[in-house]
Amino acid sequence: MLTGALAAVGRAAPTTAPPAPADPCAPSPAHLSASVSSSLSQPPSEAPTAQTVSTQETTAMSTPPTSDEACKMSQSVLATLMCAQAPGRSVYLSNRGNSLRQHRGILQEGFAQYVVNKYHDTNNPDGIINMGTSENKLCYDLLYKRLTHPDMLHIDPSLLQYSDSRGHAFLREVVAEFLSHYCCSPNPLKPDNVVVMNGCTSLFSCIAAVICDPKDAILIPTPFYGAITEDLHLYSDVKLFHVPLDCEADGKDSRAFHLTVGKLEEGLKRAKEEGLTVRALILMNPHNPLAEIYTPEEMFAFLEFCKRNELHVIVDEVYMLTVFDKSVSFHSVLSVDSLPDPQRTHVMWGLSKDFALSGIRVGTLYTENKDLLEALAQLGSFHSVPGSTQHQVAQLLQDREWIDEQFLPENRRRLKAAHSYLAQELQSMDARAVISTLNFYIYLRESSFEEELALWRSFLRHKVVLSCGQAFFCSTPGWFRFVFADQQHHLQLGQFAPFNMYIPSTF
Ligand SMILES: Cc1ncc(COP(=O)(O)O)c(C=O)c1O
Repeated sequence: MLTGALAAVGRAAPTTAPPAPADPCAPSPAHLSASVSSSLSQPPSEAPTAQTVSTQETTAMSTPPTSDEACKMSQSVLATLMCAQAPGRSVYLSNRGNSLRQHRGILQEGFAQYVVNKYHDTNNPDGIINMGTSENKLCYDLLYKRLTHPDMLHIDPSLLQYSDSRGHAFLREVVAEFLSHYCCSPNPLKPDNVVVMNGCTSLFSCIAAVICDPKDAILIPTPFYGAITEDLHLYSDVKLFHVPLDCEADGKDSRAFHLTVGKLEEGLKRAKEEGLTVRALILMNPHNPLAEIYTPEEMFAFLEFCKRNELHVIVDEVYMLTVFDKSVSFHSVLSVDSLPDPQRTHVMWGLSKDFALSGIRVGTLYTENKDLLEALAQLGSFHSVPGSTQHQVAQLLQDREWIDEQFLPENRRRLKAAHSYLAQELQSMDARAVISTLNFYIYLRESSFEEELALWRSFLRHKVVLSCGQAFFCSTPGWFRFVFADQQHHLQLGQFAPFNMYIPSTF
């Protein structure tokens, strides 16, 4: 049973909160709010100590937490993690500069360790294997071949000069055609409604800046790809208001982590009761980390909810072409014939996931809202993509033959094989896992948030980066995301000591 895992974690895991008696960067009460992700905004001096937080948690662990309590604990463990390692206050920086410098997150911590000590078969065989960052490492050969084709090596004066801050017109045309085709839009999408920036990360940040004022909130169901917290907060001081989804399917919900309009209504009501101004809802479809794909009916109901409440809806579709299970079909919001509120509906897509090109830094937004487009254009010059990269991306996206006959089928075949391999590895260990049928993610259960974090750290010490549920603000402890889009010999779990140590034979 679960206790087996807990005992193992308790025996071998490090303490998560080193003593911090006079910690100048202790978390503020805002960190402990059940719903608002607000780790950066409070001046450090207003806060209780990290030690206090940690003691409260330990006491609370004796009885199973409710979703809301679990959310609070997740926030406080995260706060503890941040404060355990944040540097002291710098006299050279503003309050905002200090907040930025002192910010620590689990995802960032794992990645920072990985990036200076990456595993390499020959050059660094003792390095860290990264199963925590959502990247597809299966298609380098295909991409190398395509990106070194002579048509990519084009230079003309306009590519060497400043471009339209929304992206070169030629690229926006190609993106509009690409999205019209792959999103099955009923009418051709318009290039003037496209904005291209250096990644969806920047788009999130810029959209938050132009649709929200500081301290306004955006609704988001949890768990979610946690870095959006920073995307919205670091520049714009916009908060995410969490709508916790339950990991247990109950009588009303046939699916675990099932999002319903009722839950959104409830979340919005709570946010208003807390005095927040909610401006928008963020949805991911396909979802990261849940790999959930909403049916057209579900999505339409969410869009109607937003219209009723005059909320913008930002629909992140960055995984739309990564669905490799033929029994599941994805429907883009751009395929909807008549959107409930087109002026408040904004669709994001990029090359990081579907084309395994996270290093190229290209994200796109499609919106019919001219005011939003004009405001984003003002910020575009801070987030533009180099001319030569815009050219390469345009060449790639208009090469339908390569996309449809080579890249997509082969990418999906490799993803499917990697997914099956890791699923088998986990099953052979008898671990209870939720194995999604698409995308990159698999979850394991563990126990409390403290133990989850301890286990995450233990994996890291054993040179494996994973993502734990609290990094995604999951309301129930014990979930881990495994990115399986990597070479098979990197995925061999048997070689990783913590898997053998911590996964009990039954839960
Ligand atoms: C759902 C989702 N949206 C956006 C991003 C970031 O995209 P980009 O690389 O374009 O900034 C990620 C990265 O993991 C993601 O999972």
